[in-house]
Amino acid sequence: MSLQLTRRRFIKGVIFSSAAVASGAGVYLASAQSRPNTVVERLLSLNINGRSRLVDVAPTETLAFTLRNKLGLTGLKVACNRGECGACTVLLDDVANYSCSVLTHTVKQYDINTVEGLRAADGTLSAVQQGFIEELSPQCGFCTPGQVMSATALLRANPSPTREEARQALAGNLCRCGAYDHYLNGVMRASELLS
Ligand code: FES
Ligand code: FES
Repeated sequence: MSLQLTRRRFIKGVIFSSAAVASGAGVYLASAQSRPNTVVERLLSLNINGRSRLVDVAPTETLAFTLRNKLGLTGLKVACNRGECGACTVLLDDVANYSCSVLTHTVKQYDINTVEGLRAADGTLSAVQQGFIEELSPQCGFCTPGQVMSATALLRANPSPTREEARQALAGNLCRCGAYDHYLNGVMRASELLS
């Protein structure tokens, strides 16, 4: 009992952890905008988690790099950095994408969603976040943000998936802890919360 409570507290920490870092995001922009020689044509306006964010982006920069290193959205992780593990998954117009394999200059027209944007303004967790907590889905938690985003994409398109459909939706998210069944339990719990 106490072990479960401890684990649940840990998992909540993993799922919440990314929310606090977003507050530091303006530092880079403020310094970039204040420099008179900033390369203006590199300034992009990106729609991220419902907010417009202005950011200086190099032509070869990946979305994962922009989000993590320039906007402080460190919920997504960069592990393989070549489209194989899913740790960097974000949503582009509600479709799951590997942000390490997308150039930031190509996503100006999309609504970009990261794990930081899932919690409601009043602090209410999304169904996927709540489902993962209730099912104690994560082990170490490293892959969790990516799993959350892939599950979110699935449930936005199909709120009542079968377990096999959930398995296919999360197939691009590797988990070195092997917690796959726990994540599937979390997705199915989230689906129940939505019904
Ligand atoms: S870090 Fe992007 S798929 Fe692995
Ligand atoms: S929970 Fe550890 S890598 Fe997935």
